[in-house]
Amino acid sequence: MPDTARPPSDKRFESPGDLAIFGAPPLFDTPRHVNRPQAPDRAAFEAFMAGIWERRWFTNDGPLVQALEARLAEWLDVPHCVLTCNATIALDLVMQALGVRGEVLIPSYTFISTAHLLTLRGMRPVFCEVGADMLLDPADVAQRITQETGAVVATHVWGSPCDVDGLQMVCDRAGVPLIFDAAHAFGGRYGGHRLGRFGAAEVFSLHATKAFHACEGGLITTTDAALALRLRLTRNFGFVASDQVACAGINAKMSELHAAMGLANLDAFEGTRAAARVIHAGYRDGLAGVAGIALKCPAQAEDNNHHYVVCEIDEGALGLSRDRLVEILTAENVYARRYFYPGGHRSPPHLARTEAEGLSLPVTDALCARVMLLPGGGAADLEDVTRTCALIRFIAAQAGAIGGRL
Ligand SMILES: Cc1ncc(COP(=O)(O)O)c(C=O)c1O
Repeated sequence: MPDTARPPSDKRFESPGDLAIFGAPPLFDTPRHVNRPQAPDRAAFEAFMAGIWERRWFTNDGPLVQALEARLAEWLDVPHCVLTCNATIALDLVMQALGVRGEVLIPSYTFISTAHLLTLRGMRPVFCEVGADMLLDPADVAQRITQETGAVVATHVWGSPCDVDGLQMVCDRAGVPLIFDAAHAFGGRYGGHRLGRFGAAEVFSLHATKAFHACEGGLITTTDAALALRLRLTRNFGFVASDQVACAGINAKMSELHAAMGLANLDAFEGTRAAARVIHAGYRDGLAGVAGIALKCPAQAEDNNHHYVVCEIDEGALGLSRDRLVEILTAENVYARRYFYPGGHRSPPHLARTEAEGLSLPVTDALCARVMLLPGGGAADLEDVTRTCALIRFIAAQAGAIGGRL
């Protein structure tokens, strides 16, 4: 990804013709992406790499993977941390270890990986409704649990903690395991505790676009020692010794190179999160009072990593649809994204079944039609935020004229 280049300094928006969608030069000369990856201090990363070269120990539960697991266990205050190659495979390991079969209840308003994983594993994703807070609704889950339910996988969407207690109560009553997809939520808190200790297990993504990352990677956290032991076996083909296999397993290991990136980023995380808060506040101030654009702010600031800049667009109040706004911004090299679009229950290969079932998820549908993410996170540039907010204010002020020309 290119470095953030300076925007053309003389770009001004005075009339709709100044917009790139109508042929003018864009505001930025390179794309500004949602969640530009954080790059840690290069010297710190290279010091870890030097150790790897010296040891010639590149993978297979190496010292850096072990060190990162220990540091994460301390940081998250959870007894067991198991690192993997990514979060999708991590969730697969957890479900296999728990013996999950049949139907699995998930929010439709989440990343498509979970629905796909279930389908590939011969299980059936049951798409559930979220509340206006974008989080899985325990009452909806309670209604959809049947004898066939094997587990509930709830997502802490955009880093905001789910109603952990409400979901746990529903799952305990039904006797099904609750797993949290914490892919977005590193550093978030619930009930005064860092996320990581809730449900049977929580799964974080350490993909490069996440608040804390290892280029690629997954992290399973649990308070269950037996589960953690099983996960360690199954992430490495079931080996208990070099020629001894205890159970079926796959290759879900994290390499030492990825762990080096994770260690360097963990050292930098408090700074990354502080920078993300400044960026988020920049958008909050810059977009304040713009009719039809509501920036989502976490109820408790300290419970969220502020990595995501999430807006809900009210077409009636703005005078332009979310999709039109995304198009206009993209032309200016502000790569705003519609998330999650079109929603799990409307995505192939799940659509045919949910349509046949007549599944109705009106809150999810509304969110999928209205939510837009803007380039944010600790690696974003505050001056870019100021310029992007000025652009959005101009678009909002000229919405009628712009819409008339499109
Ligand atoms: C909510 C959610 N769950 C799961 C995943 C999958 O994570 P990974 O790419 O590490 O497999 C992602 C990835 O972006 C995600 O956003």
